[in-house]
Amino acid sequence: MPTDQSGQRPRALLLESIHDDAAFTLREAGFDVERVAGALGQDALLDRLDGVQLLGLRSNTQLTASVVERAPALVAIGAFCIGTNQIDLTAASSAGVAVFNAPFSNTRSVVELALSEVIALTRRLTDKNADMHAGRWDKSAIGSHEVRGRRLGIIGYGNIGSQLSVLAESLGMSVLFYDSADKLALGNARRCGTLEELLAEADVVTLHVDGRQGNSDLFGEAQFARMRPGSIFLNLSRGFVVDHGALRRHIENGHLAGAAVDVFPVEPKTRGEEFVSELRGLPNVILTPHVGGSTEEAQQDIGAFVAGKLREYARSGTTTLSVNLPPVALPPTPGTQRLLLLHRNTPGVLAAVNGVLAEHGINVEGQVLGTRGPLGYALTDVGGLQDDEVLKALEAMPETLRLRVLT
Ligand SMILES: NC(=O)c1ccc[n+]([C@@H]2O[C@H](COP(=O)([O-])OP(=O)(O)OC[C@H]3O[C@@H](n4cnc5c(N)ncnc54)[C@H](O)[C@@H]3O)[C@@H](O)[C@H]2O)c1
Repeated sequence: MPTDQSGQRPRALLLESIHDDAAFTLREAGFDVERVAGALGQDALLDRLDGVQLLGLRSNTQLTASVVERAPALVAIGAFCIGTNQIDLTAASSAGVAVFNAPFSNTRSVVELALSEVIALTRRLTDKNADMHAGRWDKSAIGSHEVRGRRLGIIGYGNIGSQLSVLAESLGMSVLFYDSADKLALGNARRCGTLEELLAEADVVTLHVDGRQGNSDLFGEAQFARMRPGSIFLNLSRGFVVDHGALRRHIENGHLAGAAVDVFPVEPKTRGEEFVSELRGLPNVILTPHVGGSTEEAQQDIGAFVAGKLREYARSGTTTLSVNLPPVALPPTPGTQRLLLLHRNTPGVLAAVNGVLAEHGINVEGQVLGTRGPLGYALTDVGGLQDDEVLKALEAMPETLRLRVLT
């Protein structure tokens, strides 16, 4: 069971109906776990955070600097989702609070939705379905194709794009991709040197770029115009990347045969709010409410993944894949105590730490340092740590942001 200096049983607070697996993992690791079904406002959150070491949330809880600064027991936050915009990461870092998320847990779900849409659009299932519901029986094969042998153009060959590449090849598609970074081409996929080269060749163009600011309006009139006549367009990445007015024009004038869009520049905040978009009412266009990553499997994986990261951080100080702290891991040294020192990244901190330890006759049994921008993070395994003087001296160092001890 993880314990800190106080030797108290640690507490975790999980908000927003986080998957049961997360509570299970943390209870197994020795935490008292409290659960809240919804998000909490600032005041209610502050009340509940009193004495809580681990906080789990999803996208509807805003964790401001003011809350982080007034929750001194907090040591780590788990964002049980992909994005971490809802958390003031700078404040968390300054307070020495580690933040973890689940960057890959819903990758497969997005890929499966994209593939199903590629097949549905290529086969014009949306039109057939609409006809049948309207009482029209049309067995025509015109405009319906197999995906086998067609060229899939993937823009953004990261976690999602590269997995889509592998599965699309297994369906017999030939894959082209364009990525602004150097990426290993998987299987028989072919890298395109420019976006234009991809657009000129692909029968299906699918966007999987990340949400960096420079990608705003990445895909507009000029890019749609360069796509092959009769081709299909998908966007399951970010809404602001695509000009929807231009997409509408290219569907209406018949240049594109279909489209699937899962993400929008402005999305309703609640279930009851009307969805407003220029793309409503178009033929062979599949619209989905940002559900690319929303499957029960992904939720379960997110629960287990993030809870696992929180547990490892609590047990050993490991920050691998942390969103904000330097990545550091150190195998445990038997019979030692571990000092976790988050500090300002300035020269000589490690020497100063070891100087304090040496002054008190304490031997360093294992040590590792990682840095990330203005932050440094050192794990030090020591034997024979008995008096508080050492901890007071380390805490008093001007570079120290937060010191914790694991026994
Ligand atoms: N629809 C959903 O529910 C859902 C779920 C998960 C992720 N996403 C979104 O999917 C996107 C991809 O996710 P990921 O995990 O694969 O991200 P990733 O960071 O692993 O991959 C993104 C790739 O895009 C490349 N890239 C960025 N800008 C580019 C540009 N202008 N031109 C070419 N390449 C560019 C990057 O180099 C990187 O390889 C993200 O925008 C993410 O937010 C959506």
